[in-house]
Amino acid sequence: MWGGRFETGPDELFKRFNDSLRFDSVLLPFDVQGSVAWAQALRSAGVLTNDELSSLQEALHQIAEEHEEAPDRARLADDEDIHSYVERQLIERVGPLGKKLHTGRSRNDQVATDLKLYTRHAIDGWLADLLELRAALVELADRHRDLIIPGFTHLQLAQPVLFAHWCLAYVEMLERDAERLVDARKRLNRCPLGSGALAGTAYSVDRDQIASQLGFDCATRNSLDAVSDRDHVVDVLSAASICATHLSRISEDLIIYASDGFGLVTMSDAVATGSSLMPQKKNPDALELLRGKAGRIIGSLVSLLVTVKGLPMAYNKDMQEDKEPLFDAVTNLSLSLRVMKIVVDTLIVNEDRCVAMAKRGYANATDLADYLVHRGVAFRDSHDIVGRAVRGSIERGIPLEEMDLASLQRYSDVIQDDVYDWLTLDSVVSKRDVVGGTAPARVHRAIDDARTRIHTQRDQLRDCAPSGADA
Ligand code: ARG
Repeated sequence: MWGGRFETGPDELFKRFNDSLRFDSVLLPFDVQGSVAWAQALRSAGVLTNDELSSLQEALHQIAEEHEEAPDRARLADDEDIHSYVERQLIERVGPLGKKLHTGRSRNDQVATDLKLYTRHAIDGWLADLLELRAALVELADRHRDLIIPGFTHLQLAQPVLFAHWCLAYVEMLERDAERLVDARKRLNRCPLGSGALAGTAYSVDRDQIASQLGFDCATRNSLDAVSDRDHVVDVLSAASICATHLSRISEDLIIYASDGFGLVTMSDAVATGSSLMPQKKNPDALELLRGKAGRIIGSLVSLLVTVKGLPMAYNKDMQEDKEPLFDAVTNLSLSLRVMKIVVDTLIVNEDRCVAMAKRGYANATDLADYLVHRGVAFRDSHDIVGRAVRGSIERGIPLEEMDLASLQRYSDVIQDDVYDWLTLDSVVSKRDVVGGTAPARVHRAIDDARTRIHTQRDQLRDCAPSGADA
């Protein structure tokens, strides 16, 4: 491909070091897409005839089809990278005409384009996976729409909340993840093709036409930037890292909730494993791996940032190191989202344990303080009074709501018989009746709202179906 200037071939070890085909062959469908558009541009610029264009396009489509059937063929070939592989395949099929396709193009603008098409396709896949996971969480919330669970701060019992409220907290996080991806997709969607090696191309191609043919919003504005920009990879790896972090947090919650001391949930057999030694064990391996994958995906982000941070303008071969972290993150985040959906779909919620634990730990102490405020005591004083009541309650081993009126009145004489209405679990959650609060009426509406948003976004995803190669 570039041997003319060289007297000998590369050292065997260096060739292995330099070649990227074993991992970049997944770019083939996108390389073909870009090449089809480039062939058309060359036709418009008068470099190719109509017949030549048709032969090239036909051969390119054939290469893509064959790759779909046997992807290992490209991966195991001896070419330097996917671009040289496709070009060699083309020449084998159409002869010398195949050598014309690279006119005015460089692998630098080619790989930048391929990678953007790939990344855009990956974003669309993630968005679909995210949507289905959010839908699963909303349905889980709805299946237990009135269940009360303990809420924690510092992993200490704090205040009771609805289980559905907990589910919807994660729906919020995952929705922000989707927003970040949509945002990254917008910034990515400018086409580098026609930027040449670094300075632009010497052929009069219509870059706006190329861009729109490949589903980009416009052409990139600066050729140096276009071939050396990997911001879109950093952008999506960063969004992917945040998303994986959210999955890791759900996992950590569920690992704790499923642990022996809590027993709030049980993992279904579909996503748990046993021990080779201890017959009684049921381990939450799916969740632990989900937590582990977050580390790996964050590693990909850091790896890329460190790779690009010291690069001089414009293309440098270091940039070939962008691919494995990206591809690995794409695979693993998608897997993670889909496995988490199975976890959510099959989660067994132990309702009795949830309610029993929600009642423990003086989770209604704040409400006793609020009751005193309602009776005219200043909150700082009521906080102190209830603190002493809790201490007494701990000493006697009786929960606040089970203390008799006389005992409660020892802490404050404003306490009347109606205090017990304030101390029930139902009262405690119902009082949080503000926007974003855990009152059942609010949470039920939040379930409906989340469902509506999911329906709308499902329609949107269907309407603007992936503009990347459907391979
Ligand atoms: N395999 C290369 C990469 O992924 C393609 C671009 C090569 N360009 C070059 N001038 N060596 O970065």
